[in-house]
Amino acid sequence: MDIKFVRRLWNALCTQRAILGFSFLVSLAEQVFDLLSPYFSGMALTALTVGAYRESFAWLGVGFAIGIVDRFISWRRNHLNNKVSYELTTHVSRSTLERVTLLSVGQFRSINSGQLQMIVGRGENAFWALMNTLLFMITPALLQIVGSVIALFFIDVRIGGMAFVTMIFAFALILHANRLYIPKIDEEQQRESKLGRDYSEFVRNMPLVLTHGRTSEMVDDYMGQRLELDSFGMQLWTGFSNLGEMRSYLLWIAGWSIRAYAFWLVARGELAIGMLIPALSWLGGVTSILGTLQYQQRQVISQVTSIKRYFALIDLEPAVTVSENPIRPARFDGEIRMVDVSFEYPTYKVDEDDIQQGDARSALYDVNLRIPAGKRVAIVGPSGAGKSTLVGLIMRAYDPSSGAVLIDGYDLPLIDLVAWRDAIGYVEQDVKLFDRSLRFNIGMGRTLSDTEIDEIAKMAQLDDLRSRLTQGWDTVVGENGIRLSGGEKQRVGIARALARKPRVLVLDEATSSLDTVNEYKIRRAIEESSSGRTTVIVAHRLSTVVSADFIIVMENGRVIAQGTHQELSGECELYRELVQHQMYGTVNGNETTAPIN
Ligand SMILES: Nc1ncnc2c1ncn2[C@@H]1O[C@H](COP(=O)(O)OP(=O)(O)OP(=O)(O)O)[C@@H](O)[C@H]1O
Ligand SMILES: [Mg+2]
Repeated sequence: MDIKFVRRLWNALCTQRAILGFSFLVSLAEQVFDLLSPYFSGMALTALTVGAYRESFAWLGVGFAIGIVDRFISWRRNHLNNKVSYELTTHVSRSTLERVTLLSVGQFRSINSGQLQMIVGRGENAFWALMNTLLFMITPALLQIVGSVIALFFIDVRIGGMAFVTMIFAFALILHANRLYIPKIDEEQQRESKLGRDYSEFVRNMPLVLTHGRTSEMVDDYMGQRLELDSFGMQLWTGFSNLGEMRSYLLWIAGWSIRAYAFWLVARGELAIGMLIPALSWLGGVTSILGTLQYQQRQVISQVTSIKRYFALIDLEPAVTVSENPIRPARFDGEIRMVDVSFEYPTYKVDEDDIQQGDARSALYDVNLRIPAGKRVAIVGPSGAGKSTLVGLIMRAYDPSSGAVLIDGYDLPLIDLVAWRDAIGYVEQDVKLFDRSLRFNIGMGRTLSDTEIDEIAKMAQLDDLRSRLTQGWDTVVGENGIRLSGGEKQRVGIARALARKPRVLVLDEATSSLDTVNEYKIRRAIEESSSGRTTVIVAHRLSTVVSADFIIVMENGRVIAQGTHQELSGECELYRELVQHQMYGTVNGNETTAPIN
């Protein structure tokens, strides 16, 4: 454990230090009593051998009383440990949420969710496990060892000296194992985390695997990786256990040699026979504890590795930060401007116990535009043109690499992020839903009454859905809304955005084709919901585009034209092409060409 890690751990435990310290002291008291007990038995025996029966029983009595106190302390310590374990786990979860929620939307999009879950889950569990092993197993064991060696010096300097040399030898072997195995254990965890990510993706995408008839290939691929990891782990832990076994074997030999020496001292009359009891008991403690420390050592190395990876994740610098005194307008008008905006996608990858910034990718170049407050604007362009990226910058999922995004004339980073997020209703291209009720999905944590949802649902053209729901708005939608159709999901997304009464509505239309009824409903939903608020729609449907106040045409990360449908139909060749070949849907009931993208 390096100093940097210990300091970070100390900071992470801030509010828990007092209770952990107290719990540790109780555990120490228990160790002291444990250590004293054989001494009193020894004194009783010594008194017995010289015929001092009363004294002998008195020592036994003291031993008994100490034993009772010891039991009591042990009971209280277990109780305390339970309390500490719950409090620590809750504290760590709270800190995780506090830190992780500071990360930007873009950062979450760039980190694999399975890997993220695994790092957080393992790290959180490792906290209590590490504290438990360190404070209540290893430290007391070390104290018991050191205490026993010191006590042995009092019985006989030669026995103490031999025990001391044995102890130093064992510690040296432990440190050697640490140096040898920490990097390998780290590698094993990295591989496990990658495999965990692949496995969770495999399970999540099982319907995809089945429908493509790729079950055996996928199973073979996964099992191949699994077996490789197994053989790496087997080799690693066999080597580690062998080293530990060798250590305990040597300790065992040393222990018996010292025992034999103690007997020899008694035979020569240099040690009182009664003192054999504490001497053998303490010696046995020293060698057996030193011998079994390897198991705890293994746990500690794994736990520290898990926590280091967890720290690397939660200590990631938030990509989107807010100024010290952010502006909180009483009400946003909703004017959006972009001035010379360029953007490169950063990537965050979990690599070598660190989450590092990877290669950047350019997605927007010199974008200049102005969306007046209250207008409805459509953004069109071929797939990959940068439409969703542009919307992401308005949402502040990312900050531009250069240039500025201005809201009502204020530079976006100067505005309070929570206030801005509150003012925006966002419907993503692929609407994400919780496997919970529609009420939850629309309110997202805010409990909405039936009347409130009915009103929102009417605007989002969802009202007909309700009559088909077995449990009304409390019907559960399935994982990611699997029990809803694509069009219904889009409309639930619109309802969710509207539930916040946003000043700015941002819609990234789904590219998937919808039937005319659904298309009509979504068009109506957009028309209803955009009145009185700035609306930015990444449009794939002709109906949406035609009814917009003006249209922004994008290609290869650049804005190449802006204007009304009429203007662009005359001036912009790409726009004409898009209308002819890539947009779909109906305008006033007339079918256009089928979608291409
Ligand atoms: N998270 C990301 N990391 C790196 N590159 C990305 C990321 N998201 C998108 N890109 C890249 O940025 C470019 C613009 O993507 P964007 O999603 O903005 O396109 P789009 O116009 O919305 O396309 P579509 O119509 O298909 O939704 C593409 O080349 C894409 O590969
Ligand atoms: Mg897109």
